Amino acid sequence: MRTQVGIVGAGPAGLLLSHLLARAGIESVVLEARSREYVQQRVRAGVLEHPTVELLREVGLADRLDREGMAHQGISLRFEGVDHRIDFADLVGRGITVYGQQEVVKDLIAARFADGGDLRFEVSDVALDGLADAPVISYTDSGGQRRELRCDAVAGCDGFHGISRGAYAPAVFDREYPYAWLGILAKAAPTQHELAYSHHRNGFALYSMRSPEITRLYLQVPPDTDIADWPDTRIWDELAIRHAAEGFTLNEGPVLEKGVTGIRSFVAEPMRHGRLFLAGDAAHIVPPTGAKGMNLAIADVRVLAEALTAYLTRGEESGVDAYSDTCLRRVWRAEHFSWWMTSMLHVAPDGDAFTRRLQLSQLHYTVSSRAAATSLAENYTGLPYA
Ligand code: FAD
Ligand code: DHB
Repeated sequence: MRTQVGIVGAGPAGLLLSHLLARAGIESVVLEARSREYVQQRVRAGVLEHPTVELLREVGLADRLDREGMAHQGISLRFEGVDHRIDFADLVGRGITVYGQQEVVKDLIAARFADGGDLRFEVSDVALDGLADAPVISYTDSGGQRRELRCDAVAGCDGFHGISRGAYAPAVFDREYPYAWLGILAKAAPTQHELAYSHHRNGFALYSMRSPEITRLYLQVPPDTDIADWPDTRIWDELAIRHAAEGFTLNEGPVLEKGVTGIRSFVAEPMRHGRLFLAGDAAHIVPPTGAKGMNLAIADVRVLAEALTAYLTRGEESGVDAYSDTCLRRVWRAEHFSWWMTSMLHVAPDGDAFTRRLQLSQLHYTVSSRAAATSLAENYTGLPYA
């Protein structure tokens, strides 16, 4: 079988790319290792930056997002038991929208199927060949049949653990951190409207939500944490300690989901090898503190869809040639911002008194200087696309 663009991975990157290409009249096939049900219920990110929301609106994907997404005009940095609000609306005139990643994925899958899109779930043993000039993707379909997909270009949207990045030898820039995040989703009404990023001497904690009935909460924990050591009562107790502030109450409720995620920074350069283009987590990972992971994936495929459209419809190569450099400029900005937020808010296990004083100084500066707060707001709500 033949298609114009073979897409590996049905996360936000692969699905949105397929949608954008279809709008430009370009055919694609999306190959996904997991089932549709699995990718639709996988709990991950929750913050959509302003340019992401604008893009989803522009391309007809925001009906439910506009109805159910929670518009936020600021966040709180909480330290020494006191809230300091970063007022996005006042500082940069735009905000963010809280809307679960799996809701974005559901909307994308529904839109692709409504438009006659070709998404194939539960494939295995995906292999890439002929990437210099005549790509072939071979895979085993959900019925166990070995298949070949010939295409003009391959988009590697298969996340950090996918196979696409291994098809060549990019330079890799990597940093691991001495902590992880324990995240829970709880059936408990949020007690505050906005997110709180809390710095406490026991460690960092994040207060977020998904709906008026569902809270999403995170705790900094050691990287080798066994979730079995964290019964729900211990999680709620620690959340109450780290988020404690004047007037704050924590609403407890049944824990619907919980898990531990490692934290790392990672960039593969370049993001292109012949006719293979990496996008999203396949090419880069950020620590979650800046809420940039899914937004970067979406920014990549916006650039890629335009570049591939110019190449496949008009033979113009300037877009595909510039793809990697264009994306990496935004990626490295997000890497810096995410590293900076992470360093300011987490407690290093070997952190000495000097490090702690530096963190508090940075926190005080960030909330008291309009220039520093504006920088945070500009990055968090999303820099305009180039
Ligand atoms: P993914 O969403 O990872 O999609 C890749 C897809 O490829 C997956 O569906 C996968 O099943 C499929 N795939 C993998 N290998 C193959 C293969 N060989 N063949 C076919 N298909 C394959 N970001 C935040 O901002 N905040 C958070 O709280 C947050 N939490 C996270 C928690 C976890 C456990 C993880 C892993 C990530 C989290 N992120 C978070 C990051 C954010 O979710 C990602 O940046 C985002 O999902 C990137 O989208 P993507 O489409 O590039 O990759
Ligand atoms: C959420 C996750 C993040 O990593 C973040 O920085 C903010 C919010 C969330 O899941 O709601």
